[in-house]
Amino acid sequence: MSRNRLCRLVLVAVMPWLGACASGDRRGSLPGDAGADGAPSIDERVEELLRRMTLDEKLAQLGGTGIDGMWRAPGVPRLGIPGFAMSDGPRGLWATQVASANPQKATAFPVGMARGATWDEDLERRVGDAIGEEARAWGANVLLAPVVNVLRHPAWGRAQETYGEDPTHLGKMASAFVRGAERHVISDAKHFAANDIEDTRFSVSVNTDERTLREVFLEPFRMTVEAGVSSVMSAYNRVNGTYCSENTHLLGDVLKDEWGFRGFVVSDWVLAVRSTAPSLNAGLDLEMPTANFFTPANLGAALDAGETTLAAVDDAVRRLVRAKLELEVRLDPAVPSLDVVGGPAHAALAREVAQKSIVLLKNEGNVLPLVASQLASIAVVGTYAGLARLGDNGSSSVTPAHASTPLDGIRSHAGAAIVQHIDADVLTAQDVTAVSAASVAIVVVGLGPNDEGENLPNLSGGDRDTLSLSPAHEALIQQVSAANPRTVVVMEAGSALTTEAWRGGVPAIVMAWYPGQEGGDAIADVLFGDVNPSGRLPLTFPVDASQLPAFDHTSAEVTYGYLHGYRHVERQGLTPAFPFGFGLGYTTFALANLVLSSTSLAPTETLRAVVDVTNSGARAGDHVVQLYVGVAGSAVERPVHDLKAFARVHLEAGETKSVSLDVPARSLAIYDVGQGAFRVESLRYTAFVGSSVADLPVQQDFDVR
Ligand code: BGC
Repeated sequence: MSRNRLCRLVLVAVMPWLGACASGDRRGSLPGDAGADGAPSIDERVEELLRRMTLDEKLAQLGGTGIDGMWRAPGVPRLGIPGFAMSDGPRGLWATQVASANPQKATAFPVGMARGATWDEDLERRVGDAIGEEARAWGANVLLAPVVNVLRHPAWGRAQETYGEDPTHLGKMASAFVRGAERHVISDAKHFAANDIEDTRFSVSVNTDERTLREVFLEPFRMTVEAGVSSVMSAYNRVNGTYCSENTHLLGDVLKDEWGFRGFVVSDWVLAVRSTAPSLNAGLDLEMPTANFFTPANLGAALDAGETTLAAVDDAVRRLVRAKLELEVRLDPAVPSLDVVGGPAHAALAREVAQKSIVLLKNEGNVLPLVASQLASIAVVGTYAGLARLGDNGSSSVTPAHASTPLDGIRSHAGAAIVQHIDADVLTAQDVTAVSAASVAIVVVGLGPNDEGENLPNLSGGDRDTLSLSPAHEALIQQVSAANPRTVVVMEAGSALTTEAWRGGVPAIVMAWYPGQEGGDAIADVLFGDVNPSGRLPLTFPVDASQLPAFDHTSAEVTYGYLHGYRHVERQGLTPAFPFGFGLGYTTFALANLVLSSTSLAPTETLRAVVDVTNSGARAGDHVVQLYVGVAGSAVERPVHDLKAFARVHLEAGETKSVSLDVPARSLAIYDVGQGAFRVESLRYTAFVGSSVADLPVQQDFDVR
């Protein structure tokens, strides 16, 4: 039995919930065991600790103390209350800063957008579990992930960190991550809210009507709160003129009052907090990374001046302490060993995720999959082929112990075929000859940390001005495809790319995202058919940016309308290059026999749709079945199709399975601005089931009474 556990039990026996137990490990410890017979509840323990804390101790809880291996915020050692040790983030444990103290590296998973392309909630739960476990093994108790910001436009610099453009898909994927991560740490849904422009993120005011705010930008956060997230990070930007950290409507009215969120609100870093009393009163509980406005002196002065109240301080402290106690209670007492960090189990998971995230966009003449035994030589073209593209250099960056490049993966799958890497982005005449002589040419192109990413001082990144590849990469593709008709283009990036300039000239295109440390092998697994490609686009790939709402990353204020992404494209009657939900494979699937559990639903009920999915091709593979809802006669503008449910299913060749998709009627609600509440309209709805928003072969009507 650990010293801490023994100490806790003794305390419970002799002096329920009182007394201090000096922390012997990195997590610290807390007195008392919740749930044991006669033991106080967590809330009772929190209240008792609040009674025992001095005002100075309380005020010191509300601000961070900077970085020491990880981001820190104090506890109260005298009372056995541990501090916070926080680490990013969304694609793995951010171990860069601590690497010098301990050379062990962390697992670099595919970025969030890649994981969005898996449409696999259970897989994402496992990723959250793995990253949470690595964070705990490092000694962190807060993981600054997941990103729950709706991708309003693919030019957003941090697109790679989120899961996609659709609120329901995003909310489900982020909730799955939360369920996994919260087994080990406090996870943090960020950045609340409407934080989807990078270059002006510290100040821009995102102006939008209440319905758009609720249904589009807040709904995914609400879903993570429902999933049990313990903390929420307030964003840098303003919403309707008010900074998120002092936005009473967002933090108080919606998050804490309406949604009943019992966790704590932490600020985003450095520039997110602009005031003391207005922020505390609005509902900000903790200023990070250091106390600037939330210093004991400032807070004390605000109390003395009557600008805030002890009740507001107590509420913040209560939330911080409660989150720590709840974590302590749900944790497995055995702290995972550091061996899990970057260990083989997580590497295998990273590869599985990458395999399931890769989207086959085009495959004319079945150029793919490659059959190594039928190839004499493979020309692998481009500088990117020899690089492991893991994502940007911002707060989500992860340093893995190793990372496979596309070239590594292709080499290990090529069998006896000769692999020649042309390590250039402009071909010489000699290169062109080599490319034309090869049995197949694989060009690797895309974006990197200089093109998109978090915009931090001394870092490149930021938003994109164009959705296309660089002129150099477009020219390279054209050169290669002119020389070899069997050209496969592999793209690595965190968001949508336009392909019009060269798409017609190449038979095969693969979207690999930033595929993580095992990405090179996973790309080759797909190219050579070891796995059937099964990723589906979590965002629209437009023909060009004119098909989307404008992306303004320079103005002090922007106004958002209700529709973006596929909802906008469909309403405008446009045909994108590749629609939301789209992805090919090496086999085919057919959908039939859609049966609804009811054709007349009460607003409190859940519709169950059951559909038969058949693998009508010759190979085993996964399919992602998608259910969208449409409605006519609404009092307000509605999307033509609105994603409400999805499921990934594995089918052997020729196999048929029944897939169930649940749609709570509540998820059809609109936010009625007049009533200030969500309400489900009593109308006839249509459930459409298919393989992308543009391919919905089966449908059935149902009514909500
Ligand atoms: C980012 C957050 C991150 C924090 C700490 C901020 O600049 O916006 O996403 O968690 O830094 O690294």
